[in-house]
Amino acid sequence: MNSPQSGLFEEPGRSSQYLEYQLKSAAIDDVKSALRKALQPVPDVHILVAFGRACWHRLQPEWCPEQLMDFKARASEKGHVMPGTQQDLFVWIVAEDRGDVMAAIVQVAEALASVADITLDLDGYKTREARIITGFVDGTGNPKGDKKRQAAIIPEGSIGEGGSFVIGQKWTHRYKEFMSLSVPAQEQVFGRTKETNIELEGTAQPPNSHVSRTDIDVNDVPMKMYRRGTPYGNASDKGLYFLAFTCEFERFENVIDSMLGGGDGVTDSLMDYSDCHTGSYWFMPSQQDLDAALTS
Ligand code: HEM
Repeated sequence: MNSPQSGLFEEPGRSSQYLEYQLKSAAIDDVKSALRKALQPVPDVHILVAFGRACWHRLQPEWCPEQLMDFKARASEKGHVMPGTQQDLFVWIVAEDRGDVMAAIVQVAEALASVADITLDLDGYKTREARIITGFVDGTGNPKGDKKRQAAIIPEGSIGEGGSFVIGQKWTHRYKEFMSLSVPAQEQVFGRTKETNIELEGTAQPPNSHVSRTDIDVNDVPMKMYRRGTPYGNASDKGLYFLAFTCEFERFENVIDSMLGGGDGVTDSLMDYSDCHTGSYWFMPSQQDLDAALTS
């Protein structure tokens, strides 16, 4: 069985950099050589890489997980929008120390500058309690222990085994609007209590809460994904980079459909207070498949 790229399951990962790139019209051998330089080991840092369908096809013309598609713009009937801004390349730099992350940013940026244009350059952070900027704890419903692998990794025998399907979306919070709600009203949006982080139960759980719209089963299969996104921000722009990994591509599409009101028309009330600005789907190959693609 092929193994995932190193660092995927290493938590907490207090500091991240999310880099999205569009390839220039460079020869594919130059792209491979630039990627090899970008991915040289940096002490105490993980540098993981994933590719859009067209980009992976150039690096590895022999095979691609067939379900992988580009992210297409989606909208709810009420006007919530998830734009499709598909990029070629995603680099996720993650470590516990910001200085270590910075050393890797410099290496990656210098190595890729001649073959790709940077289109998203976002620094993420994780607080000790993993609270997002509006104060709710993020990650509680994530699979634990062995279940992380089951949710995130393409199984043995399938095309792309040991790799993952990946989604990246940049969301900004309408911070003032959300924070002007009472705490119980905020809790209705997420479906969990704020301070104590307890899931609302039974009739107390609104059908349009974020938990109700995302914790779903399709044909009795829970649509579990492994989420590693974090808050990002500065004085003028704050939100969350949503980053998640799955073993089956359809899980993303099913959960997004549910958020946008597919089936019953009920939309995720999180989208009344946060706006989505980017959206890409990528394939993160296993370490062995990555090495093979970059050296062939
Ligand atoms: C502004 C954007 C978002 C924010 C602030 C946010 C925040 C949260 C929070 C606070 C929770 C509850 C705690 C937890 O279980 O982690 C949660 C759960 C979850 N979110 Fe999000 N989220 C965002 C976008 C998304 C998107 C776009 C998806 C899917 C495409 C998603 C999928 C999930 C899933 C699967 C859960 C776990 C539900 C469960 O099993 O209980 N989230 N999110």
